[in-house]
Amino acid sequence: MRTVPKFVIGNWKMQARHSYGLQLACDIARGIKEVPPPSFMHTVICPPFTQLAGVHDVLEKEGLNSDVFAMGAQDCYPAASGPFTGDISPQMLTALGARYVILGHSERRQNHGETNAVIRQKVKAATAAGITPIVCIGEHLAERNEGRAASILASQIEGSLTRGFRGIVAYEPVWAIGSGITPSHEELQRKLTLIRSLLPMRLMTDDIRVPVLYGGSVTSVQTPSIMSIKELDGVLVGSASLEAQSFLDIIRAATEATLPQSSS
Ligand code: PGA
Repeated sequence: MRTVPKFVIGNWKMQARHSYGLQLACDIARGIKEVPPPSFMHTVICPPFTQLAGVHDVLEKEGLNSDVFAMGAQDCYPAASGPFTGDISPQMLTALGARYVILGHSERRQNHGETNAVIRQKVKAATAAGITPIVCIGEHLAERNEGRAASILASQIEGSLTRGFRGIVAYEPVWAIGSGITPSHEELQRKLTLIRSLLPMRLMTDDIRVPVLYGGSVTSVQTPSIMSIKELDGVLVGSASLEAQSFLDIIRAATEATLPQSSS
């Protein structure tokens, strides 16, 4: 049986200044080289657009641009090229060495009015360009408190993913992002079971396992408990990915929490 890869993905958002970002990429790469994670553990860092070329150079220089350590972007436009001022196409991202792209993050859904339909167009365009989409879904606090989380997640899966989707899904409850609060183990387990049950309907097949990650205030402290959920394939990390040691600690914690499962 093929080993299912596990992912630790860092989303730097609009937060690392240029020189800091390049140094951060370098420090993470060196930490990974010092203690190489097993081959099933895939690390992805997603810098802002302006740092992609520089970070790509760092990864090349460190000999680390591969499945186990790759670079992603934080968004793309749903077309290959055209008169779209200020936008970046997925082809432009792959030309800079990006292998993944985060789509439908709640900050984009909220701040840029991105609908499920727009996100699905982006997924299509990214897939056509050969870049792996990481699609974020998750309910707001009010939706959770009103008992509407399940229907929100169902409509995001149905609306944002393409049929036969080949990418990664990240469950990021909006209320957990940047709040220091993570869902209880039981709640996370329930939501992931739900997401896993909804995916085959959208994928139109159940014979591929789409990796499902959790994101929202992840630190190395909660990582072992989060990663012990067997439906889960990794974590999407925001603020804790902006410091090399805290990100490396998460990679190590995720590896240790996964080792018994993957070697069985
Ligand atoms: P956070 O962000 O880890 O800072 O909560 C996660 C995300 O928004 O992807």
